[in-house]
Amino acid sequence: MEDFLSLLERRRSLVANEMVPPGPDAAQLERLLRIAARVPDHGKLAPWRFIVFTGEARSKFGAVLEARFHELHPDADERQLAVERQRFERAPVVVGVVSRATPHAKIPEWEQQLSAGAVCQNLLTASAAMGFASQWLSEWYSFDEAIDRALGLEDPECVAGFIYIASAKQAPGERARPAMEDIVSHWSGT
Ligand SMILES: Cc1cc2nc3c(=O)[nH]c(=O)nc-3n(C[C@H](O)[C@H](O)[C@H](O)COP(=O)(O)O)c2cc1C
Repeated sequence: MEDFLSLLERRRSLVANEMVPPGPDAAQLERLLRIAARVPDHGKLAPWRFIVFTGEARSKFGAVLEARFHELHPDADERQLAVERQRFERAPVVVGVVSRATPHAKIPEWEQQLSAGAVCQNLLTASAAMGFASQWLSEWYSFDEAIDRALGLEDPECVAGFIYIASAKQAPGERARPAMEDIVSHWSGT
């Protein structure tokens, strides 16, 4: 358990541009998704689902991103279009986490969305425990209706994030963290 705490204390995201193969194989990915889905979920609604991108699906989706980007930015140059075309090829595995939060008589949508966030974090933590590097990205294509349609999202589904999973040539250094005294208070009554 000390190892697990140490992992949590050291875990860092790796920027997708610095990722290298390999990513998780099929069995590892299946295990990661199973772990990711083990989150607190008020009302047992499973208000989230996964869309997995591996192999050629990544370049196929890259073509969708490129076409949409071009539509939105007709003046985009070849360098910009290439960035879009290759986005999902930065990592061997990309997992889209979709929030399916819907109005419910007892469970606020906010709580359902938080559960989707927990899924994303579980995926990052489990990936690190398996020895992989990962990053949670939204970027522009998480907030675009045409891309939502291409992903097969149905209203009111939305993207909670894309989790890029790969390996790291070099582990990232630490980043600044909030000072605990700035974020912790102890309630002592009124
Ligand atoms: C919901 C969400 C969306 C994010 N989207 C982006 C993004 O689009 N681009 C980006 O550079 N970082 C994004 N990040 C930040 C990185 O995933 C990550 O927080 C940062 O690289 C450092 O995190 P670490 O403390 O895990 O190392 C996002 C984080 C969250 C929680």
